[in-house]
Amino acid sequence: MADNYEYFKTQILALTKIDLNAYKEAQMKRRIDTLITRNQCKSYAEFVNLIKTDKEKFEEFVAYLTINVSEFWRNPEQWKILEDKVIPDLIKLPSIKIWSAACSTGDEPYSLAMLLLKHVPISRIKIIATDIDKQVLEKAKSGMYNDKSIKGLPDELKKKYFEKISDTAFQVSPELKKCIEFKEHNLLRDPYPTGLDLIVCRNVLIYFTEEAKSDIYKKYNASLKPGAILFLGSTEQIIQPQQYGFETISSFFYKKV
Ligand SMILES: C[S@@+](CC[C@H](N)C(=O)[O-])C[C@H]1O[C@@H](n2cnc3c(N)ncnc32)[C@H](O)[C@@H]1O
Repeated sequence: MADNYEYFKTQILALTKIDLNAYKEAQMKRRIDTLITRNQCKSYAEFVNLIKTDKEKFEEFVAYLTINVSEFWRNPEQWKILEDKVIPDLIKLPSIKIWSAACSTGDEPYSLAMLLLKHVPISRIKIIATDIDKQVLEKAKSGMYNDKSIKGLPDELKKKYFEKISDTAFQVSPELKKCIEFKEHNLLRDPYPTGLDLIVCRNVLIYFTEEAKSDIYKKYNASLKPGAILFLGSTEQIIQPQQYGFETISSFFYKKV
C-alpha cells in the first residue's frame, strides 16, 4: 500500500474519533491493508472515499478495526480467581460499582452480573459497560446471543438467565439487563467514571502502544477507590505495577494501593 498512512490516520480520526496513533502501528496497518486490498482499493485515499460514501462499508470498517471478539466466561480460570479472591470482599460493600471497559458485545458485563447475583440482590449492583463501537453496544443491549458465545458458561447460569429462542439463539433475562448501563466511550479521549470498586478491561490494551497503555493505567488508578481491583486480560500483565499505584494480587489482578 502506498505510504500515505499519516494522511489515512488523520482522516480516520476525523471520521470515527479513533486515533490510530495510539494503536500498535505494524499490527494495525497490516490489518487495514488487508481490508483495503479485499475491497479492491488501490490507495488509502480511495478507501477513505469509499467509507465516506458507503455507510455499510464504513460500519464494516469500524467493526473490523475494533476487533470485537468476545464470549461469556472468557478464560474461565480467571473468572475462578475473580470469584475466589475478589468477589468475597466486593459483596461486603453496601453498593458495588463496576466498569466493564471495552465490553464489546456485552458477554463480559453480563457474566459479571450473573456472578454477583449469586451473592447480592440486584439493587446493590451497578455495572457500567462501555465500548467505542456503537454496533457492538447495540448487540449488547439487545441481549441476543448464539450458542457459541455462551458455550463456556456454567449450565446452572445458562438455565437461570437465558431463554432459548431457537436451537442456536438465546436471549438474556430482563433481570440481568437491569443492572447494566451500556454507553459509548473511547478509552483514549473520554473522561473515566470514578468511585469504582472494580474495573474489568480485557483484551483491548494489547492493541495499544506502550505510551497509551501507561496513560490508561494511571487513569484507571484514579478511577478506582483505594483497595479496589483492576482485572486485565490473560496476555496483558502490567510490568512494574507499583509505578501506576497498583500491587499484584494474582496474575492479571491488581489492587489500588
Ligand atoms: C477483543 S474485544 C474485548 C471484549 C471483552 N473485553 C473480552 O475480553 O471478551 C476489544 C474491544 O475493544 C474495543 N475498543 C477498541 N479500541 C477502543 C477504544 N479506544 N476505546 C474503547 N473501546 C475500544 C473494541 O470496539 C472491541 O469491542
